[in-house]
Amino acid sequence: MENLKELIKAADLEFSQCKSLSDLDHAKAKYLGKSGPLTDAMRGLSSLPSEEKPKVGALINEIKQSIEKLLSDRRKTIQDDELFSQLQNETIDVTLPGKKQSQGSLHPITLSMNRIQNLFHSIGFDLATGPEIEDDFHNFTALNIPEAHPARAMHDTFYIDKTHVLRTHTSPVQVRYMKDNKPPLRIISPGRVYRVDSDATHSPMFHQVEGLWVDKQVSFANLKSVVEDFLQNFFEDESILVRFRPSFFPFTEPSAEIDMSWNDGWLEIGGCGMIHPSVLSQVNIDPEEYQGFAFGLGVERLTMIKYGVNDLRPFFTNDVRFLKKFEN
Ligand code: DAH
Repeated sequence: MENLKELIKAADLEFSQCKSLSDLDHAKAKYLGKSGPLTDAMRGLSSLPSEEKPKVGALINEIKQSIEKLLSDRRKTIQDDELFSQLQNETIDVTLPGKKQSQGSLHPITLSMNRIQNLFHSIGFDLATGPEIEDDFHNFTALNIPEAHPARAMHDTFYIDKTHVLRTHTSPVQVRYMKDNKPPLRIISPGRVYRVDSDATHSPMFHQVEGLWVDKQVSFANLKSVVEDFLQNFFEDESILVRFRPSFFPFTEPSAEIDMSWNDGWLEIGGCGMIHPSVLSQVNIDPEEYQGFAFGLGVERLTMIKYGVNDLRPFFTNDVRFLKKFEN
């Protein structure tokens, strides 16, 4: 009986040295398990004289309960300690700056294209589009640039196969639109164009916006005022002047380069002219009855002037630090 009482002290000591629940489970087996001293003692009861059995039995139970109590107290302490250290490890510093959600923004070229479309829309121009993989006929022949014409050489063309190219300009959309629609016609056609060229001022892919107005009485003076009006609105500057420099394009006659006044000088921003009678005939519009003007503007150039960017390349290298400057 004395030995059994000693058990409580030994269990208390051993439980208190357990640092984890699994240590405690081991220790529990040692005292309360099937081959532990209390189980042994219970088995031994049968060999005691019957008057001693109740007393010893009760003592064994008492000891068992005391050990179970020690065990559950220790288990609670260990659990509390574990929870505490877990909480300590997981503490977050709520004063640290949070992760920011950064918002995307439209590309400067997109901003320009939207602006161009809105301005022309406001004076009655519809929007027309055409394929970027264009056939030789629409890109060249129908625009009065037959095979072996020297103007083809100026276009540094990407050929897809013998009869298809990546369009070198947006002018083929004129042809497609005039073929499918009856005058009066008034459209702009913005989009990507491609040329074999790459340096600070040339990119193999760039953007143009084509303009076209066909009616019974459309004049060169109308052309100049539409272009000038557009530029003054685009740059929000009424002092901007437009200068037409005589030039040559196979699909217009007369033809001109469009220059705009800028910082005490002139900048070339596109080409234009009165649609050549044979281009009109090609699409079954009678050049005796109808005339029209057309122009093509470089969107990158307009964007560079508008935002004061003097290198073309950052428009296409996807550097967010550059693109963020145009957040609207
Ligand atoms: N397509 C010409 C080019 O890319 C630009 C151009 C000139 C377009 C005169 C026109 C035009 O519509 O009339 O160089």
